[in-house]
Amino acid sequence: MKRLVFPGKNFPVYVFDTYEEASLAAAEVVVSEMKKKPEFLLGLATGSTPVRLYRALIEKCRAGEISFSRVKTYNLDEYYPIDPKNEQSFLAFMKANLFDHVDLPKENIHIPNGAATDPAAEAVRYEEELLAIGGVDLQVLGIGSDGHIGFNEPADEFILPTHLVTLTEQTINDNSRFFRAKSDVPTHALTMGVGAIMRAKKCILIANGKNKAEAIRGAILGDPTPKNQASALQFHRDVAFYLDKDAASEIL
Ligand code: F6R
Repeated sequence: MKRLVFPGKNFPVYVFDTYEEASLAAAEVVVSEMKKKPEFLLGLATGSTPVRLYRALIEKCRAGEISFSRVKTYNLDEYYPIDPKNEQSFLAFMKANLFDHVDLPKENIHIPNGAATDPAAEAVRYEEELLAIGGVDLQVLGIGSDGHIGFNEPADEFILPTHLVTLTEQTINDNSRFFRAKSDVPTHALTMGVGAIMRAKKCILIANGKNKAEAIRGAILGDPTPKNQASALQFHRDVAFYLDKDAASEIL
């Protein structure tokens, strides 16, 4: 593992040989933070990246090292529209990859409702939940190949509250691997804005693979810009990056 710090950038970047090592190091952070506070508020991401981290959390929970019994989870985003029971929904993903395997009470799960009839009202409802907690204790993040965090796509501005977003062609292409056909990928999502992510007391961003290298370079070394929404993290009070060497290839 290499720890990189860049001049003028007030956060550590950890580079590992493999995705597995990066995930396990990130899992250690989640575990040690969870142990400090049983009523932990945990922000979660979906997608391929956090799968290994979630498996590590399941193993730690089964071993009795951590418990989710008093944890509350807040997911970054959900496709819109989508039936939460649809196996492609982010709720279904979270159940398959974490929720169904740990002692997390169902009522402690928070995620935008992809089946809400009024997405604008649903965005307001979710943001109110997020504002009420004042910020999660720890937010787990992945990054899109276009630099998105949550589904905050490249834009002319940073949008702070939860909102309905139109997914970019690049994101639809990237995510089509989870669907039978590209035309099945929802074109919209409800996403936490950059505001709730910045309110998190701590953020860890995990990235692996060459297809993330350019986005990671912009996020870490570029001037902060809404064209790479992850670059907002440069202003976060406590953020760390966990990268495999491919994702780090443009910053080494
Ligand atoms: C999903 C999310 C997204 C993903 C990103 C990377 O909840 O927040 O920002 O983290 O699209 O996705 P993967 O990990 O599938 O490459």
